[in-house]
Amino acid sequence: MKTPRRRARRGLFITLEGIEGCGKSTQTKLLGEYLRGHGYATVETREPGGTPLAEKVRAVLLDGADEPVAPETEAFLIFAARRQHVTQVIEPALTKGAIVLCDRFSDSTLAYQGYARGLGLSTLRSLNRLATHAIEPDLTLVFDVPVATGLARRRSQADLNRLDRETVQFHRKVRAGFLDLAKQHPQRMKIISAAAAQDRVARAVTQTIAPMLNRYRRRGAEDSMRSRQPSFHSLQVRHALR
Ligand code: TMP
Repeated sequence: MKTPRRRARRGLFITLEGIEGCGKSTQTKLLGEYLRGHGYATVETREPGGTPLAEKVRAVLLDGADEPVAPETEAFLIFAARRQHVTQVIEPALTKGAIVLCDRFSDSTLAYQGYARGLGLSTLRSLNRLATHAIEPDLTLVFDVPVATGLARRRSQADLNRLDRETVQFHRKVRAGFLDLAKQHPQRMKIISAAAAQDRVARAVTQTIAPMLNRYRRRGAEDSMRSRQPSFHSLQVRHALR
């Protein structure tokens, strides 16, 4: 399958990944607050979801179904939602120079539909290129906790969705998938040990993103000198999708 060309962009794309109950949604919010507090234009979003249409697909995907859901059906729904989300939210925000924080993205598809459901990784990667127009995260934080810890947290919190209710074995495969992907992409994917208290995990996050943030700030300053425009970091954008 032909890969669409990667587009020029100025923003920073950070994804947050991990098994159920790893704390990534809380960390996405904390990181968003931290970045806005430091004057960065930041868009917080999530997958599946992030646009009205994609949120409807999320509901279909996560609701208990009256019939078995084939792994391929699950994958196609996710890719449909992703295409919409990338076009409507992620690409425009990156083009404007914002920092996009996305609670789950392509690595979840490889971990859940690939490693855990057993769909072929190379097929998933091809379909994903179509769905994303080959946009890849600049940085992916993988929040790692033992499966028992994650599931216990999750089961004490919320209404459980169809995927939460999968077997422990399934969630073990998801975790192993994320760890394997992180091994394959050590530059992009950083594992954060997430069993500790929220504020300690949040500190680990800000330390991990610091070098990339410095490069992004320098690039923004150079851009604004060149164009004699105010730096895009001075913009304040809050994109609340939830
Ligand atoms: P969460 O974001 O609240 O954790 O729930 C989203 C669920 O969707 C979670 O169980 C993982 C699942 N999911 C996939 O199976 N594949 C994907 O590509 C994405 C983004 C999510």
